[in-house]
Amino acid sequence: MKVPPSSAPAVFARLTAWQTQHGRHDLPWQNTRDPYRVWLSEIMLQQTQVSTVLGYYGRFLQRFPDVLALAAAPLDDVLALWSGLGYYSRARNLHRCAQAVVAEWGGAYPASSAALQTLPGIGPSTAAAIAAFCFGEPISIFDGNVKRVLARCLGFEGDLSDARQARGLMAQAQALLPPAPSPSDMVAYTQGLMDLGATVCRRTRPVCGQCPLATDCVALRTGQTGQLPLKTKRSKRSTQAWWWLVARRPDGAVWLGKRPDTGIWAELHCFPEFESLALLQAAPGLVGQGCGQPQLGAPVKHVLTHRDLVLTPVVVDVPQDWVWSGASSAGGAWVFPGQVAGVGVPTPVARWLAQWAPSAAPLQAVSAL
Ligand code: ADE
Repeated sequence: MKVPPSSAPAVFARLTAWQTQHGRHDLPWQNTRDPYRVWLSEIMLQQTQVSTVLGYYGRFLQRFPDVLALAAAPLDDVLALWSGLGYYSRARNLHRCAQAVVAEWGGAYPASSAALQTLPGIGPSTAAAIAAFCFGEPISIFDGNVKRVLARCLGFEGDLSDARQARGLMAQAQALLPPAPSPSDMVAYTQGLMDLGATVCRRTRPVCGQCPLATDCVALRTGQTGQLPLKTKRSKRSTQAWWWLVARRPDGAVWLGKRPDTGIWAELHCFPEFESLALLQAAPGLVGQGCGQPQLGAPVKHVLTHRDLVLTPVVVDVPQDWVWSGASSAGGAWVFPGQVAGVGVPTPVARWLAQWAPSAAPLQAVSAL
């Protein structure tokens, strides 16, 4: 269903007024037009909840207060501060983007969504958010929340897993903007779309009684809030099992290898992984080198976007001068559980290192299984 042209100004005005009165105003990345701060928040908020980002944003800014500081930092420092936020390609692109802003734009972010999109890690919706928040550009963001708000409000019945249909909805989103909105209205409207999607027009159990667009909303009128947005393609999930070699020295340090620069958890520090326990036991340096019997820890499930990983730590006591010579040996490090700050590690490694204690997580001798 098309937007009745007469309702477009009403949607913009209602959402802008609602955000001003009922939206969020004191998130740490609001009330600034500094593109560095807005860009950083938008990258962190991609696929990550506000409550999680709040624990990282301030710390990151303290360490890297501006784009020059970030561009000059070693990638490992950036990855270390990103540890636990997930989707680490964001951190690598963040670093590349900062370097491009310095090298190609003299340290000043370009002031249009079109130019912002030429930078690493900045897609159309992130570019639109930065351009709207910092430069007042009349351009609509188009992230998952916004797709839901607009598909319901406009009664858009196209399948959003079809790129052509998604483009159609994006054009309608753009058509909701007045011809020359003020920069402050663009800020309120953009934040209003985000706030409405996060707090009122939720995926399940939307609170339509509190929605400023209830009188415009086609899905509410036709009883379709549960069906829209329509998205048919669901990726098939798979499950993969990994055994992690936790080589532990007498002084308590454990070995973390540095992962390659592509693939999952690229360039983070991680226990060496094996696709079977037998392969782990046959790993270089574990047989006849004064190593203890492997002991199995409790498996944990780690959920990724398209697959579940079942991770089983296998602790092996190794001599103090033991050297890991298998894959990912270059750039690896000995770390002490509880003291991994400064090294970028994926969340399940961080959790294991933080929680693991011989008494808290009983290990089972492999030979007893
Ligand atoms: N998600 C993406 N951008 C956001 C923002 N500026 N505020 C809250 N949530 C967001």
